[in-house]
Amino acid sequence: MRASRALWLLSGVLPWAAALYENGSVVAPCDSPIYCYGDLLREIELARPFADSKTFVDLPTTRPLDEVLAAFDELEKPIQNNTALHDFLSDYFGQAGSELEAVPTDQLRTQPDFLDAVNSTEVADFVKEVIDIWPDLTRRYAGAGNCSDCVNSFIPVSRTFVVAGGRFREPYYWDSFWIIEGLLRTKGSFTQIAENIIENFLDFVQDFGFVPNGARRYYLNRSQPPLLTQMVRVYVEYTQNYTLLERALPLLKAEYDFWVKNRTVTLERGGKNYTLNHYAVSNTQPRPESYYEDYVTANNQSYYNEAGEIFNATDPLTEAQIETLYSNLASGAESGWDYTSRWLANPNDAVTDTFFPLRSLNTANILPIDLNSILYYNEITLAAFHTRTGNASAAQAWSARATARSEAMYALLWDQEHYSYFDYNLTSGAKNIYVVADNSSVPADLSGAPEGHQVAFSPAQFYPFWTGAAPAALKADPSAVKRVYGRVEALLDDRAGAIAASNLKTGQQWDEPNVWPPLEYIIIQGLLNVPVSSSSSSATNAETDYVQTQSLALKFAQRYLDSTFCTWQATAAIAASTNSTEGGKSGGIMFEKYSDTSIDAAGGGGEYEVVEGFGWSNGVLIWIADVFGERLKTPSCSDGESKGAGKRRKRSAVEIDAWDGKWVKRFAS
Ligand SMILES: *[C@@H]1O[C@H](CO)[C@@H](O)[C@H](O)[C@H]1NC(C)=O
Ligand SMILES: *[C@@H]1O[C@H](CO)[C@@H](O)[C@H](O)[C@H]1NC(C)=O
Ligand SMILES: *[C@@H]1O[C@H](CO)[C@@H](O)[C@H](O)[C@H]1NC(C)=O
Ligand SMILES: *[C@@H]1O[C@H](CO)[C@@H](O)[C@H](O)[C@H]1NC(C)=O
Ligand SMILES: *[C@@H]1O[C@H](CO)[C@@H](O)[C@H](O)[C@H]1NC(C)=O
Ligand SMILES: *[C@@H]1O[C@H](CO)[C@@H](O)[C@H](O)[C@H]1NC(C)=O
Ligand SMILES: *[C@@H]1O[C@H](CO)[C@@H](O)[C@H](O)[C@H]1NC(C)=O
Ligand SMILES: *[C@@H]1O[C@H](CO)[C@@H](O)[C@H](O)[C@H]1NC(C)=O
Ligand SMILES: *[C@@H]1O[C@H](CO)[C@@H](O)[C@H](O)[C@H]1NC(C)=O
Ligand SMILES: *[C@@H]1O[C@H](CO)[C@@H](O)[C@H](O)[C@H]1NC(C)=O
Ligand SMILES: *[C@@H]1O[C@H](CO)[C@@H](O)[C@H](O)[C@H]1NC(C)=O
Ligand SMILES: *[C@@H]1O[C@H](CO)[C@@H](O)[C@H](O)[C@H]1NC(C)=O
Repeated sequence: MRASRALWLLSGVLPWAAALYENGSVVAPCDSPIYCYGDLLREIELARPFADSKTFVDLPTTRPLDEVLAAFDELEKPIQNNTALHDFLSDYFGQAGSELEAVPTDQLRTQPDFLDAVNSTEVADFVKEVIDIWPDLTRRYAGAGNCSDCVNSFIPVSRTFVVAGGRFREPYYWDSFWIIEGLLRTKGSFTQIAENIIENFLDFVQDFGFVPNGARRYYLNRSQPPLLTQMVRVYVEYTQNYTLLERALPLLKAEYDFWVKNRTVTLERGGKNYTLNHYAVSNTQPRPESYYEDYVTANNQSYYNEAGEIFNATDPLTEAQIETLYSNLASGAESGWDYTSRWLANPNDAVTDTFFPLRSLNTANILPIDLNSILYYNEITLAAFHTRTGNASAAQAWSARATARSEAMYALLWDQEHYSYFDYNLTSGAKNIYVVADNSSVPADLSGAPEGHQVAFSPAQFYPFWTGAAPAALKADPSAVKRVYGRVEALLDDRAGAIAASNLKTGQQWDEPNVWPPLEYIIIQGLLNVPVSSSSSSATNAETDYVQTQSLALKFAQRYLDSTFCTWQATAAIAASTNSTEGGKSGGIMFEKYSDTSIDAAGGGGEYEVVEGFGWSNGVLIWIADVFGERLKTPSCSDGESKGAGKRRKRSAVEIDAWDGKWVKRFAS
């Protein structure tokens, strides 16, 4: 298998190329008439047999494909959400995710030695319980079902892996970076599983030329933030076993080439050409796993808002506009930030809830700080790998790419006046410095914007300090870093919880008040990267500034610990009072996202219910427990005062309860 894969790579013929489906104006992620395009998919998804559109495309068939299609033809049209549909579904399809199986937990060992350095017993016990969730999230592919022509949407992988949790039943691309940070520290069986996850993704690069968003065929048209090179880096650095590089290096180069060939924008500014990257998926269909939502966003004549008001669109979208919108929806999913005010031309539609929140998506016209920072990191990392393998000229070429990108980012994305990076907007030909203001309070140093606007904030602005894409004059000078971080430090003091994805409340997931674990990691690691010695004129000040950046990193880390710990306690208390057997041993739950309004609330909003589990939340917690160890304090969950909650009302466990209805319903039943 290895050998034939290598052959495909050499000949440039991808074995799955036929999976991408193009027919006239239809461009779909794969050629499956069940999982990727066509009447069956459209009619069933629009009938909404399940609350989550993703459920249907995750059902494996239990009969051969042609029998399923023939039976569908027999159904009365238009398809309704009735007994006939549900009978069809149960006669021809199995359970969502049944092509995967759990790995018996007695085959999985953990050996988290780093916990010895965590001297708060409560924190150590909590992190240990979270580590014990990994076996429950470990899966392997069980096979294609019970008949030779049965089909499913899973992209087979040959090695054991860890899922994110909940509706995310398959391996996900960028999630896996933080999952691996956690697995490496969990040790035992999980060092090998961390490598397996990487090798599965390397197989994807061999088979498809890039890493899809996740291991489902309906994701074959798009990728996600390209962190595979960084997964390899943390793996080899942590294990000090560099053997993996032999297989990985050519494939990491191939993945990089995909981003260069398929996601590049060159623009001339001030007599110079700059090359940067964007998220841009070639696609003219609704995303199969969010079919209904995308279809409505593009085709509804009237917008029905939460309050029951109806807003009519002045003009329906043209076919061309609909296709562009589908492409921008898929591109937003590719960015990992699905969705955010960062990609919305008219975020006010969402803020005021007076029009389709996502109809103004402009994803492909944004050059994002985070994507370009990651690609910088990949270039620098590949330079270092080549230095290690003794290929000096390749190392030099990769360094040159990194330098050019850092310069392009500084020229186009950095704003000296606001002392921050901003996304570049190709539509306006300028940085997106301002965004509409909502009613949430903005710390004073974020003001100075035109009437009705505020200076855009998002943790994406700190990616250049995580990956090193900022020039040395910024990233290596503790006082400059302190100044850049002034804005996010103000938010930490203003909010009870950790740092949200933006400073605009839109109801979208990647906006205020939602706190995303990976973004906390990036903010913290950016500070940890500040070097001790500095070229700054006053050595004593530099040392003080350095110490302050490091204690700020600890403050962010402690706040994330407080959020996960106190939410865990709150959910454990509910579990105890309802005799629930869900969650960890104590009934506590780790969520996919948190809230910046309190330290004991999960996040919400967006296209689906908040998900528990949860891969990257666990990974970031474990990383913090290892990196900050004995400096972490036992969180005091009822005492909001010391955590800046004085300025904002805290939400209690009971309120989480009412607020996240679905989750509590499960507990109550
Ligand atoms: C392309 O689409 C046409 C019209 O929908 C259909 O008749 C034809 O079978 C399709 N071709 C393929 C290869 O799917
Ligand atoms: C469709 O029917 C199923 C089963 O009766 C139900 O659970 C689901 O909520 C229905 N969907 C909608 C949109 O009403
Ligand atoms: C953990 O150990 C450090 C260093 O020995 C000490 O400063 C700190 O107070 C201890 N914390 C707890 C919670 O015991
Ligand atoms: C295959 O058959 C077995 C035994 O009948 C059943 O447990 C399993 O769920 C089936 N798998 C699928 C994908 O339908
Ligand atoms: C998406 O599909 C189109 C058409 O088949 C193809 O050109 C494009 O490369 C695909 N993108 C990905 C990421 O697969
Ligand atoms: C080092 O990694 C290689 C492949 O990545 C693996 O086969 C080997 O067992 C590892 N060596 C040790 C000592 O773990
Ligand atoms: C990249 O884009 C080219 C056309 O520009 C397309 O043919 C190719 O399929 C794309 N590659 C992938 C992996 O999507
Ligand atoms: C930038 O690139 C374009 C297209 O390749 C070229 O025509 C132009 O001369 C370049 N400008 C500079 C300043 O190099
Ligand atoms: C789309 O329109 C249908 C009626 O045609 C309505 O029931 C639904 O709520 C609308 N959705 C949105 C998001 O406006
Ligand atoms: C919206 O359009 C419908 C017909 O499509 C019409 O009955 C209704 O009055 C319109 N509402 C407003 C507020 O214009
Ligand atoms: C980009 O620029 C256009 C044109 O000025 C503007 O309408 C839009 O709001 C800007 N932002 C985004 C995210 O598209
Ligand atoms: C929990 O279990 C105990 C003992 O079995 C029982 O007395 C109690 O009523 C249960 N509580 C709830 C809320 O179900």
